[in-house]
Amino acid sequence: MSVQDLPKLELHLHIEGAAPPDFIRGLASEKSVDLGGVFREDGSYDYRDFVHFLSVYEAATSVLQTPEDYARLLTAVLEESAAQGVIYTETFVSPDFCGGSDVEAWKDYLLAMKEAAERAEARLGIVSQGIVTCIRHFGPERARAPARCAAETAGDWITGFGIGGDEGKGSLRDFAYSFDMAREAGLHLTAHAGEWGGPQSVRDALDDLHVERIGHGVRAIEDPALVDRLAEDGITLEVCPGSNVTLGVYPSWGAHPIQKLRERGVRVTVSTDDPPFFHTTMTREYAELERTFGWEPADFLEISRTALDAAFCDADTRAQIA
Ligand code: ADE
Ligand code: ZN
Repeated sequence: MSVQDLPKLELHLHIEGAAPPDFIRGLASEKSVDLGGVFREDGSYDYRDFVHFLSVYEAATSVLQTPEDYARLLTAVLEESAAQGVIYTETFVSPDFCGGSDVEAWKDYLLAMKEAAERAEARLGIVSQGIVTCIRHFGPERARAPARCAAETAGDWITGFGIGGDEGKGSLRDFAYSFDMAREAGLHLTAHAGEWGGPQSVRDALDDLHVERIGHGVRAIEDPALVDRLAEDGITLEVCPGSNVTLGVYPSWGAHPIQKLRERGVRVTVSTDDPPFFHTTMTREYAELERTFGWEPADFLEISRTALDAAFCDADTRAQIA
């Protein structure tokens, strides 16, 4: 079986970051929004480095202005995921871009996305869930609104809460209030850490936010004691190798630590993060892992089992996708 045909589970996908450039250009022209600086001449997203990537990402997101826009986007994203063999996906969505701090407005966006997800599941068989995410560089005060949105809609397609954005800004401890609110509402927790920050960033996510999974987490490899802790505690990493290589966290696929982490007993999964930004797809991630590390169908099956175990879904959904 080719890697294209293998059934895949993806735990780390940003809905806005998965928007195809043509989709964003189409909405910009419908709404007469000037997106100067967002695209290269060849039509792809244009950014120099990670911090610039975040600002281009936010500029592109400015054309997503209504619940209907998000429903159309989620439909396009799930169609592409299903074409890559993805059978289950967890999608980060930021209330900061969907209604701001207004919980009632967020509920309108969420309803539109949930209906789009149900239609995609009926038509394509792909199961999806949403993880509300706050954005680190917007600061801990502003993160309370997404946490409230998440808490008020917990269980209604939303099954998790997380944090993304610029890992170089602020301290994770300051977001503990928001994570506590989400946990008390019964949500699962994850945090981007150990992508740009070193091992201490991963420790902070575990000790200060008490997350079950880490977004990226790959730089834990720099601290053997932390690697042992991740393995012993069964913490799952949402590893996005193509994202890491394209953004320059590692200079090449061969230098990426995913295989070393696996060999040390860490539970790793594979995701794309923001596929069109990084010129990747789930199939391309699998093909590169096959080419670079010689992964075989049994290796991919192990990755899928790990993702199934770590998925932020209930037992019925887990049984449905198993
Ligand atoms: N938001 C979208 N992609 C991200 C990444 N790779 N790291 C942090 N925040 C993000
Ligand atoms: Zn991410």
